[in-house]
Amino acid sequence: MTSPIIVAVDYPQLEPAQDLLEQLDPALCRVKIGKEMFTRFGPSAAEMCMKKGFEVFLDLKFHDIPNTVAGACRSAAELGVWMMNVHASGGRRMMEAARESLDKANSDTLLIAVTILTSLSQEEIHEIGYSGTPEENVSRLAALAKSSGMHGVVCSPKEAERLRAENGNDFLLVTPGVRPAGSDTGDQRRVMTPADAMQAGSSYLVVGRPITGAEEPNEALTSILASIED
Ligand code: C5P
Repeated sequence: MTSPIIVAVDYPQLEPAQDLLEQLDPALCRVKIGKEMFTRFGPSAAEMCMKKGFEVFLDLKFHDIPNTVAGACRSAAELGVWMMNVHASGGRRMMEAARESLDKANSDTLLIAVTILTSLSQEEIHEIGYSGTPEENVSRLAALAKSSGMHGVVCSPKEAERLRAENGNDFLLVTPGVRPAGSDTGDQRRVMTPADAMQAGSSYLVVGRPITGAEEPNEALTSILASIED
């Protein structure tokens, strides 16, 4: 499967999620299950997607002591998800323990790290106690993630070019905050078009509302794919 699109399946009920999955083609995208659906429906939310043939990114952003995160990652790997994530700010030992737990389980689940949440402003980052610009913190944490065995990071498409240059071609850059030209930005602030995000070095694009909110989700998906190929 060569599609770089990961559709964010964010719903408070199962039915609209099932409807969406019925309309999407698993040969053209993967799906992301996050905290909203997982907290309400548990592993069955991911299993529902996998039964319909979709590879799943389990976006639970683990951040805890190394032993606990290692156990959580092992559980997610046993579920059979394609990708999962942790917070890079959990530190080297936490990330190494997470990776080790997957290796021990002979799992090929991809493990990526969140650097700095893109929702945080410079002031908020300083309030937490980090100095420097958001970009400097993102670069530092991405390097830490890479040297701690992560397969990649979640980042803003605006950071993709810099992180691609700093971390080489094999490091995965998974970018939300993507909007086709002319579509509603919603609560996203620093957006890029899918084509520009790929050009900047993204490996995978997380797209939610431009697809989930479309009258014909599969058409929205195929037109995003066409815009990337152009
Ligand atoms: O609807 P939209 O395309 O904005 O959805 C983007 C998805 O990516 C949502 O599931 C959101 O939680 C997630 N996300 C994000 N920004 C981040 C990390 C994750 O929008 N920095």
